[in-house]
Amino acid sequence: MSKKFYITTAIDYANGSPHLGHAYEKVLTDIVARFRRMMGDEVKFLTGLDEHGQKVQMSAQKQGVAPIEICDRLAGEFQGLCQRLEISNDDYIRTTQARHKAVVQEILQKLYDKGEIYKSDYNGFYSVRQEQFVTEKEKVDGKWPEIYGDVVEVTETNYFFKLAQYQDWLIETIEKNESMIYPRFRSADVLQFLKKEDLNDLCISRPKERLEWGIELPFDTGFVTYVWFDALTNYITGAGYGTDEFEKHWPADYHVIGKDILVPPHAVYWPIMLKALDIELPKHFLVHGWWLSSGAKMSKSTGDVVNPLDLIEQFGADAFRYFVTREMNVGQDSEFSLELFMSRYNSDLANDLGNLVSRLLNMGGRYTEGKVPAVSVDETPEQELRKLWSEIGGELVDLYENFQFHKALDRIFTFISGINKYAETRAPWKLAKSEDPADRAKLETSLAYMAEALRLGVVLLTPVMPAISSKVRQLIGAEDFAMLDGQLEWGTTLEGKSLGEKTILFPRPERPKA
Ligand code: ME8
Ligand code: MG
Repeated sequence: MSKKFYITTAIDYANGSPHLGHAYEKVLTDIVARFRRMMGDEVKFLTGLDEHGQKVQMSAQKQGVAPIEICDRLAGEFQGLCQRLEISNDDYIRTTQARHKAVVQEILQKLYDKGEIYKSDYNGFYSVRQEQFVTEKEKVDGKWPEIYGDVVEVTETNYFFKLAQYQDWLIETIEKNESMIYPRFRSADVLQFLKKEDLNDLCISRPKERLEWGIELPFDTGFVTYVWFDALTNYITGAGYGTDEFEKHWPADYHVIGKDILVPPHAVYWPIMLKALDIELPKHFLVHGWWLSSGAKMSKSTGDVVNPLDLIEQFGADAFRYFVTREMNVGQDSEFSLELFMSRYNSDLANDLGNLVSRLLNMGGRYTEGKVPAVSVDETPEQELRKLWSEIGGELVDLYENFQFHKALDRIFTFISGINKYAETRAPWKLAKSEDPADRAKLETSLAYMAEALRLGVVLLTPVMPAISSKVRQLIGAEDFAMLDGQLEWGTTLEGKSLGEKTILFPRPERPKA
């Protein structure tokens, strides 16, 4: 029986075009999803778009179009990004879909019937820019911080969700469940927030005079629900809440999110909403850090402005995926720069991996009639290469399971350098000049070793670089595989297989277009 594995990304706001942060989150989630499939899990991978709210309504007004037109255009852009990046999501949710509206209204009605939602007057300060109520506590030196923009006093009737009564339960739940939040230090942030002061109940509505672009409250059509009851609920809509499907997928195994939306929405509102609905909590949150300079970056040396997402077309999805995964230690922040991208592309991909492949194919064509020869020698160079693999190959699954993808890639490329060093040591191009049968045996062994080592090296490169890994396999006569089982063991399955024509996997670019 395979294990079910349900993984989600955050749903992106439909208030701007996709940027590097959005792309990264999808790549990260995709790597986990592809890895779990290789481990034999039955994966469901959901991503999508968060479409309601003030900002979308306002830009629609400004542009003189219906809000849905803006959302449709952005849904096209974000879904296009998923395709450009070879993201293997099984579903794409949009919060304007009928299936989602139905679920939001169903849970709101349930909570209302249970007495978990009540109506109340609220008198307070409202930040127009941040679209949220703010309290005196947020003042700094008696003034509203700049980020709030204009703050006005308003009295408004709204609906509130009884959040506060669950505070102790939530503290206990998070304290008991140490592996709920990855990386663990973020659990401490959540607990600190929860222990600092009493939670307020959560305002979950906006009167329609102020906001129309939202899902109507089922028990009061004068209001729409606002922000988190709409957005967070996507995770259960996507799992088929209210249908037989739900049992199959829920609870989510991982919600992948950025650090800015852990506290309070994902770590506080979401568990409490689910608890109040008697729905199981998600098992884990995988919280990544931020790309700094995620929009555009001035290249210091050239003065060109580069949109990181343009690199996908210029260098291929796999190179982009490799770069973001190699540079980001999941959970930390990372700085994007074109220089760094080019250096990774040239040294790791074009030099180390690309040259190794073309070297092997070239020699195979010249010396062994385009076939992978048989192994007949086992001396120190062979033993050392196998030893290097037994060290590195033995670590990779563990690194993947613990989201240490940057380290896994570092190890894989250490192995690839090891294969290049092996080739230098054996120097088959010199052996080819000898008439001695012992040299011929070494030559054949060395090409067979390079091919087998390459096969092994790209196995766990596959979740990060699916197309390149598959291409390398095809070029060395290795079959594609679905399950990881058995793939990491050194063997001789390639013997007699045909090698492909010499190919340039990573073409040297002209300077990227500005
Ligand atoms: O927050 N680096 O949408 P969003 C890395 N709709 N990740 C980044 C980033 C950066 N520079 N900037 C943003 C929302 N992100 C809500 C979510 S979920 C029920 C609702 C990440 O478009 C961010 O942390 O502002 C979040 O996980 C995702 O991109 C979408 O951000
Ligand atoms: Mg945001």
